Amino acid sequence: MTDVSKKDLLYEGKAKRIYATDDPQLVVQEFKDDATAFDGEKHELISGKGYCNAQIAGLLFAHLNELKIPTHFKEMVNDNSMLIVHLDMLRVEFVVRNVAAGSISKRLGFPEGKKLAQPIVEYYYKEDALHDPMLNRNHIYVMGLSDAKTMDECEGLSLKINELLTDFFKRCGLRLVDFKLEFGTQEGKVYLGDEISPDTCRLWDMETDEKLDKDRFRRDLGGVAEMYQEVLRRVREAAGV
Ligand code: TMP
Ligand code: ASP
Repeated sequence: MTDVSKKDLLYEGKAKRIYATDDPQLVVQEFKDDATAFDGEKHELISGKGYCNAQIAGLLFAHLNELKIPTHFKEMVNDNSMLIVHLDMLRVEFVVRNVAAGSISKRLGFPEGKKLAQPIVEYYYKEDALHDPMLNRNHIYVMGLSDAKTMDECEGLSLKINELLTDFFKRCGLRLVDFKLEFGTQEGKVYLGDEISPDTCRLWDMETDEKLDKDRFRRDLGGVAEMYQEVLRRVREAAGV
């Protein structure tokens, strides 16, 4: 940890805040306890969630950095905050699926828990007012959200990150069912941004299939805070800290 002083609030989202620092290339990302679902329609405070997600994301980003994946993560600055590269974010979310669950089960009738023959990458438009609709590449180019070169790079990174995180979570006794990534650029270079946490991944216990992720909140299954703490415990163990 270092002594980074946060300056003006630049952006506040549903689960995080971004603050300026003395260096225009770097910002502080602070994780909040707010949990939201269904485009913010359902909202609760879950004490300790910000801490757990910041710690989990910090360890996962550090792991990916070591494996030469360009992430925005620099270092933790306190319990709930990390110093990150200041990115111009793409308004496209990349969802990678290994096992059917959630919206793909609803949309295509795949039974939840069905292993997919190969990973599926989907794109979504980050726009709550439109309920984050699914996009294809043609939509993305026509809307000017990105270009083919950047999309190829982000998709390649998404699949590589899927392999690396699937291995890492296996060591935690967790199945990486699916997850969402967001990318951004600084000076033309693509970085993985945002977060990787139980808010943005589906993680199922390998032995029992118990859900250790935000579906506990979305589906009112209870034990949300406890499950986030359990994921943090397992991630720390696998990271050797
Ligand atoms: P979905 O099955 O609802 O499309 O979600 C796929 C994955 O993306 C799941 O791991 C949860 C994550 N996700 C987010 O991180 N943010 C979102 O707004 C949504 C809808 C899903
Ligand atoms: N993060 C999204 C929201 O708050 C939804 C979700 O994760 O399910 O609307």
